This record gives sequence, C-alpha cells and structure tokens, in this order.
Amino acid sequence: MSNVIEQQRICTIRPKVLFKLIETHFPHQNVSFKVNVPSPDIGGMTLLESSILVSLVKLTDAQNLFEFGTFMGATTLLLAENTPPNAHIVTLDLPQDYASHTAHQTQDVLKDGHANDAFLTHTFASHGARCIQRADASVQGKVTQVLENSLDLDVNARGYKGQFDFVFVDGGHAYNIVKRDTENAYRMLKPDGVVVWHDYASTIHDEVTTFLDEHSEGRTIVHVANTMIAFELHGRFKHLLDSAL
Ligand SMILES: C[S@@+](CC[C@H](N)C(=O)[O-])C[C@H]1O[C@@H](n2cnc3c(N)ncnc32)[C@H](O)[C@@H]1O
Repeated sequence: MSNVIEQQRICTIRPKVLFKLIETHFPHQNVSFKVNVPSPDIGGMTLLESSILVSLVKLTDAQNLFEFGTFMGATTLLLAENTPPNAHIVTLDLPQDYASHTAHQTQDVLKDGHANDAFLTHTFASHGARCIQRADASVQGKVTQVLENSLDLDVNARGYKGQFDFVFVDGGHAYNIVKRDTENAYRMLKPDGVVVWHDYASTIHDEVTTFLDEHSEGRTIVHVANTMIAFELHGRFKHLLDSAL
C-alpha cells in the first residue's frame, strides 16, 4: 500500500513514513523523545504532532532552531529537550504590550481564526511562556526568547541570515503574517535544513492553508496525515523521503 495518501500539489503522507525513516536512520538504537503531557489549553500541539516534529529534528540533526510563535513555550521546550546539549532554540513572539492593542474576544475562539489569534496573543501577553519559565536551567540555557512583531523582523540586522537548520512557522495565522514569516524562514534557513508549518488544514486558520496551497507551486511541501504539520526539506535533505514512499 502506498504511503502517499493524496498526491495533490501538497501531497499528504502517513506519519509512519517518518517513523520508518527513523528506524532506517537509527537501526541500532531505540529512539525515544521527551514530551510533556499536552496542555488542556488551546494553541498546543498533539502528541502525534510532537512526535513528527521531533522525528524531523532527529532526521535532519537540527541544532540551530527558530520558532515563530512561542505562546506557552510548549514546543520550545519540546525542541530544547530533544536536541543535543549544544543545540540552541530562538523563539519569537509579540512584545508584552502588544495585546493591549488587540481585541481580546473569548467567544468564537474555537471557530474563528482571528478570535483565536487574539486569544493566543492575549494569553501570551498575560502569562508569558510558562513552559520555559518552569524549565530547568539546562533547558533555559538553550533558549533565547525574542519579543518582536515578526512583521518587523529584520533578518540581516539580527544576524539570522542562513543560520538555522530548522525553522518552525507557528506565529500569527493571518495570510500576510504566514507569508512574511515564510519568506523570512527561507532567509534564515541554512542550505541544508527544513521549514515546518503548523495549522495546515486547520478548520479555523484557513489562511494558513490558502497561503501554503498557493505557495507550494513548484515546491515539494508535504503534509502529514492526521496532523496540521506541513514541511519542506532543503538541500541534502531534499530526497530524504524518497526511499520511504
Ligand atoms: C499557535 S501560538 C504558538 C504555539 C507554539 N508554537 C507551540 O507550539 O506551543 C501562536 C503565537 O504567535 C504569536 N503571534 C501572533 N502574531 C504574531 C506576530 N505578528 N509576531 C510574533 N508572534 C506572533 C501569538 O502571540 C501566539 O503566542
């Protein structure tokens, strides 16, 4: 049976394609990963998504990682706890005072993408990245938090050009933000690396799906079934999936 479920412009693969590659790449070891019990709050990733993210990190041996959208820091923690001690994760979210400029709506947060984004932004501004705050010093030492609107991010001025093995796009979900974050992800990526997006095929953040469907023309962007993760492999990783499909 084929491991490709849908062969559209963005093809959908089964999660086991990546798990099979993990077996092939690490034939003599049990590959485990550390993960917190998922938060009951909205905005987090599922266990399956966490395992996909860690699989991509391990398959590409990513050591310099960038995350758009820190929120509680659950994924920052996941990345920090599943990378070598010398790995570094830069995670960016809005300045603390930004939420005062946004409407905080509690109704429709599970139905409307903009209300959901306003809720996430407000929650981050009120509570900060609690998973990072509560982490051990060894984990905190691997993380740099940046508080800046990603629309204002100057990749050159920050010294981020071509610095990262892994860029996770999971900040604002409006079309213009995903587009800008994606453009910057490519600027920040090393020649060999992976860009990962969250919220592809989300039932509420449809602008992420619209953007990625358009953007995928002429590219190989892959969606993982039963998750909202899509990714694009670059350089020497471009054909990583070939043997598993
Ligand atoms: C879905 S949450 C991130 C979840 C996190 N990556 C995780 O997996 O746990 C999205 C975050 O993006 C932030 N955000 C929204 N618009 C942004 C922007 N323009 N610049 C930076 N961060 C933004 C929000 O404040 C929110 O905390």
